[in-house]
This record gives sequence, structure tokens and C-alpha cells, in this order.
Amino acid sequence: MTVLGIETSCDECSVAVVVDGVRVLGQRTAVQLEEHAPYRGVVPEIASRTHTQWIVGVYHDALAAAGIVADSLDAVAVTTRPGLVGSLVVGLSFAKALAYGLGVPLVGVDHILAHLYAPQLSTPVEYPFVGLLVSGGHTMIVRVNSPLDVEVLGTTIDDAIGEAFDKVAKYYDLGYPGGVAIDRLAQEGDPDVYRFPDAYLHKGDHRYDVSYSGLKTAVINQRDQFRTGGGNATMADLAAGFQRAAVDSVVKRTLRAVADTGLATVVVGGGVAANSYLRASLDSIGMKRGLDVRFPPMELCSDNGAMIAGLGYHLLGSGRQDGLDLDVAARVSGFRRPYP
Ligand code: KG4
Ligand code: ZN
Repeated sequence: MTVLGIETSCDECSVAVVVDGVRVLGQRTAVQLEEHAPYRGVVPEIASRTHTQWIVGVYHDALAAAGIVADSLDAVAVTTRPGLVGSLVVGLSFAKALAYGLGVPLVGVDHILAHLYAPQLSTPVEYPFVGLLVSGGHTMIVRVNSPLDVEVLGTTIDDAIGEAFDKVAKYYDLGYPGGVAIDRLAQEGDPDVYRFPDAYLHKGDHRYDVSYSGLKTAVINQRDQFRTGGGNATMADLAAGFQRAAVDSVVKRTLRAVADTGLATVVVGGGVAANSYLRASLDSIGMKRGLDVRFPPMELCSDNGAMIAGLGYHLLGSGRQDGLDLDVAARVSGFRRPYP
């Protein structure tokens, strides 16, 4: 079964063709970096307008990359939640028109579930596993039982981890995207000069939850208070201290989830999975503890159409199919077990 996947939930405009949920025939992802760089953050109105201008071209490029014509498509899958409503609507409208025109089934896909499915498109991972999803919009620690069965163990109670990177970078004018700039700068810094506490290390029901707004405020407003090292502290030291606090916080919860569930596989997804300190940290802990830690290739970690097509295949296989009244949603409701 050949499924076209469309992803426009934020600032990536991505279309892919995937066969039987695993074989990526072709994918094209257009990234709106230049469009949002002057504002050092994604501007929703600019994102949706740019998707409108790009989507037809990206679709044709994706078909060409896959080496197929539209008539070979068996179904169309599209992200419907969560995300920026204006951006989601562009992808959904295009998907509806295409499915209707071709006379093939349409299926709406949850973006979070799709991120957790993404690793299956490179080297298949056996279920169940612990998933760590870290991006500009999401921070989640989950137990993934199957493509459609995900249990949210913990999440952020305020900002997403990538959002914290982006806001700190914006405040200090370090570059855009902020996470990339901080990662680079932190490599020249000493993380011991600034020590930021883990403010939200709860026990009980919230033992896997994280919080970033306190850390972000501490880094922005009270940096002198957390300075422990002597000498001339630099911006690189601050970046390194912030990065270590931000990353350690999710790593600690992920390891809690591993200990509590007894699972030995950890899969990391989302744009922040590119962070070099996160990678080094989880890789070395994984090695010491005998864990199988997987970082899918970056084109599958950040927002992409292939993960939408891949999960769409499983939804269709479970009997799901949506009508032309399909709508988008900014958020996901029913949090701990959000998906049927
Ligand atoms: O998954 P993604 O492309 O889009 C969504 O947010 O869904 O993730 C983008 C986020 C941004 O916040 C960006 O700053 C962050 O990922 N990011 C990084 C790194 N590369 C991208 N954060 C930390 N270190 C990096 N190397
Ligand atoms: Zn995403």
C-alpha cells in the first residue's frame, strides 16, 4: 500500500511517499528558516502563508523523488493535531482535495504518535520501548506499546525544552534556531561555572514531569545568582550550564521510566534529539547500563511527512478512515492516554 504523508503542523512543509508503512520511496522537506529568522521564532501567520505558497511544489517534488505518479497512491495521510492551526489547515485542505480528486481514502494523523513511530522507518525497533520526545513544541516521556498505543508518563508543565533553548537564545541574541546556536556555543563553555537546580523533581504521579519556565527565567534574569565558578564567566559558560540543566532534567526522568518499566530500549525523537550533549549523555549512560539507545536519522527526528505516511498506514489498517469533515486541533486532549 502506497501512502502519501503530508506534514505542515509548524514551519516544516514536508511530503513523503511510504510503502507498507516502512519503506520511504521519497521525501521532500522545505524548511522555513529564512522566513522566521528575522523574528528569531516561528510566526504563525508567516508559517501558514508560506505553506500555502510551497505545498504544491513540495508535493510534486516528493512524487518525483519517489519516482511515481499520483495515480499510484492508495491513500493520503495528513497531520491534524497538535500544531499551529493555520499551518495545519493548509496541509489538511490540500490532503482533502487530493484524496477526493484521486478517489482514495483520507486519514488524519496525530503528530506526537507519528514522531514516536518515526524510528521504525530506519532501523525497526521492537515494542514496547521508552520514548523521549524533545522538540520546539513537545517534551514527553512515554511508554510506547505499539504504533497506536502510547502511554504518556511525563510531560512539561510549561515550556517545551526546545522552546526554552529558543527563548534563552533569543534573549541573548545568540542566533536562530536557538537550540543549534546554544549547542555550538556550549561546546566552548564550562558547565560548572553556572549550576542551575532541577526545580521540578517531584515524586508520585508527577515523577516524570519536567518544567522549563523556571530554568529559562533563572538563565535570563538571575544568571549571577547561579554563578559558582570563579574568573571571567563567559556567554559560552552560561550556554553550557543551561544546556546541561535542561538536558539532564529529561535524561533523569527517562532513566526513571526505564527503571520503573523494566524496558531496556530508549528511542529519542524531535528536533532537540540533535543536541550533542543529549546524545553523548544518553549514549554513555546507555553503554554503562546495557540499554539500547536509538537516535533516528535527523530527517526522521524533526518534522517530516514520512512519519505521517507511516503511521497513516497503520491507522488505515486498523479500519480508520476520515471524511471531508475532518478538522484540525491545536492541542491534544485527555493527556495521559490521549489516543485510542
Ligand atoms: O522537531 P522540530 O524540528 O520542530 C518542532 O518543534 O516540532 O524541533 C525544533 C526545535 C527547536 O526548538 C530547535 O531550537 C531545537 O529543536 N533544536 C535543538 C538543536 N537543534 C534543533 N535544540 C538543542 N540542540 C540542538 N542541536
Ligand atoms: Zn514535531
